Amino acid sequence: MTHVNAPTAGVALTAIGVALIREQESRRPDRLYADPLATAFVDAARRDFTRTGAGAAKWERVEAVAEQFFAGRSVGVRLVDDRVAEAVAAGCRQIVLLGAGLDTRAFRMGLPADATVYELDLPELFAFKEPVLRALHATPTTLRHVLPIDLRTDWAVPLRERGFRPELPTHWIDEGALPYLPPEDHLRTVATLTTLSAPGSHFGLSRFAVDPEAAPYAELRRLVAGDDAGMPPPDAGRPGEQWLLEHGWHTRFRAWDDMIVPLGRDVAVNDPEVGVVLAERV
Ligand SMILES: C[S@@+](CC[C@H](N)C(=O)[O-])C[C@H]1O[C@@H](n2cnc3c(N)ncnc32)[C@H](O)[C@@H]1O
Repeated sequence: MTHVNAPTAGVALTAIGVALIREQESRRPDRLYADPLATAFVDAARRDFTRTGAGAAKWERVEAVAEQFFAGRSVGVRLVDDRVAEAVAAGCRQIVLLGAGLDTRAFRMGLPADATVYELDLPELFAFKEPVLRALHATPTTLRHVLPIDLRTDWAVPLRERGFRPELPTHWIDEGALPYLPPEDHLRTVATLTTLSAPGSHFGLSRFAVDPEAAPYAELRRLVAGDDAGMPPPDAGRPGEQWLLEHGWHTRFRAWDDMIVPLGRDVAVNDPEVGVVLAERV
């Protein structure tokens, strides 16, 4: 395959970590989903990182962090898959991935041809993702629009210009992207998607009891921001369930430990407060 530049620094690098997780899951006999394109992303990224000694050392760190997050994050991917499948079965035809990373649901889930998937992420992410997909002649089963854009800017206008229809219900996916935004941009993004959400639209907020000082999180932060990076901004100011209720969403909470039961993986957190706030626009 021709050489493509992988994002070797900055937040887009985290997308490679999740691709590593999906690639590992896809190799398991008891896999929860199959993501063959993840292998192509991982192979291309590995080739790019390991061209230099420093890059090879960083690649090892990325692999080590992905390994530490694997068990819970991989189950999380499947839970999001299930919600997408439910939404589509219920008639939803508009799906927006906020911080799509190397997600391949438009290719791997058999989504219907009359649905549209909008993928929003940083330009450097798509500068890596799209050439890899093109080299494989990968074809989505659904309409797919890519928006290389910073979510800290006004993304609603380009989204609408690409054909997004606010009068249709939308399934919005934030799978680990919005927490990277400063709190004010995180809030503005949720406020924006709220104004773009017709009745019947869905959104979800994760509620995790995370210790940001725990080793895997600290290492992830160093990989993204550099080894001398300071602390991330505090959580205050980010929208929560109360914000959603006050802005026209119905919410229900599903505990992580209940959601994972059918999947048969040993990833219980034994904390009934951890889970997802599932929101439906009314
Ligand atoms: C942990 S990855 C998750 C990617 C994807 N949702 C997945 O599950 O594979 C976080 C993603 O958020 C994207 N992201 C972070 N900040 C962003 C911003 N300001 N604008 C657009 N995308 C951003 C990163 O580029 C990265 O692809």
